[in-house]
Amino acid sequence: MLTDSEFQYRAGTLFCEDVNLTEIAAIHGTPAYVYSKRGIETKYRAYEEALAGISHRICYAVKANSNLAVLQTLARLGAGFDIVSAGELFRVLKAGARADAVVFSGVGKTAEDVRYAIENGIHSFNCESEAELHLLSEIASKVNTCISVAFRVNPDVDAITHPYISTGLREHKFGADIGLVESLYECAMKLPGIRPEGVSCHIGSQLLDLKPLWEAAEKVLALVRRLKRSGVPIRELDLGGGLGVPYRGAEHGVSVSDFISGLRERLAGEDLRLLLEPGRSIVAEAGILLTKVLFTKRNGQKNFVIVDAAMNDLIRPTLYQAHHEIVPVVKRLDAGHLTADIVGPVCETGDFFARGRELPEAGSGDLLAIRTAGAYGFVLSSNYNSRPRVCELLVDGSRVHVARRRETFEDLIRGEDLLQ
Ligand code: LLP
Repeated sequence: MLTDSEFQYRAGTLFCEDVNLTEIAAIHGTPAYVYSKRGIETKYRAYEEALAGISHRICYAVKANSNLAVLQTLARLGAGFDIVSAGELFRVLKAGARADAVVFSGVGKTAEDVRYAIENGIHSFNCESEAELHLLSEIASKVNTCISVAFRVNPDVDAITHPYISTGLREHKFGADIGLVESLYECAMKLPGIRPEGVSCHIGSQLLDLKPLWEAAEKVLALVRRLKRSGVPIRELDLGGGLGVPYRGAEHGVSVSDFISGLRERLAGEDLRLLLEPGRSIVAEAGILLTKVLFTKRNGQKNFVIVDAAMNDLIRPTLYQAHHEIVPVVKRLDAGHLTADIVGPVCETGDFFARGRELPEAGSGDLLAIRTAGAYGFVLSSNYNSRPRVCELLVDGSRVHVARRRETFEDLIRGEDLLQ
């Protein structure tokens, strides 16, 4: 069941919080990402409430939605942040967050990334290899500091999700092999500039079953106990992100409170601070992509609804065969039903949002909402076909904040130079 409760129909018209989406389209144009501030806050608070009494920090995974106003909303609630590039750290700092609440993940950090993060005093690095460990040690020693490091462990667990977003099997590029990582801690204990005091793990995204998470948590906890016994002062356990959300009516997301209560049992008596890196489960349901029907047509047996948004604005359907519910903004009582492909204007057959989807008959000028688009939506967008990137709007009650203005043609060529 979809749980994006900040998007509700009132007298047949879809609203985001107290704002009518037809008015948003009239004022700000389409396509547009529309986010509910309250939706984001509610999801974040659900984590905080479930974690009460456990020593913890929620480090929101910036990659899911890195809009400054979204980051600011979370920073104001006291969130920490999980970053994977210096650019993400730059954003987080611009949004007013504290650097010492930031963890740095990622399999390929550059020396520049590391230097920038150290200069800004982030909390810790999730290190993924021996080579990276040496880089961290070298840079930290050069600037006479000592940084907190956790190894990201690859626990060899099948996350049972789309292969592109499954990360916890030995064959994946991520993390250090759980069977070999103890020697990395031994090495880290001897290196200058490094305090190995954490263990981290992230097995994949959009997990709809908790079992793989328990399997990973248990393997990693066993590792923590072994490390502590051999004298490595582990104080923090970072279990990554990954909780799935319902994208279709019949799907059930995983409950944050079930997840945390399972963790609570497993962590009892462990004397560890828990870090989590949720991305999707905080922002996905708080966003939609608002789009307008340009044309409808029939080719052979097939109906097509051509909308003004395209794969460059939301790539999830074509990249991961992801399902997003698509609903009319205004429900017409007299509308019949039609089965159609909902496609964009980009010159690729892969430019679709849905195939063979049944939806209420729609015609030119009608507005549609592509739901559950708050995570991995705008952040994965591009200028393909020289399409300006769309605006992002953050609704707060009855107010609409332009969190990112629509790009102009001039934005499209910014930084390009003609030959002399
Ligand atoms: N931590 C690490 C180290 C990660 O790699 C990720 C996501 C997260 C946390 C956050 O995971 P979440 O809670 O959002 O599942 N573009 C794909 C998803 C890619 C996820 C990459 N890593 C999609 O649209 O489904």
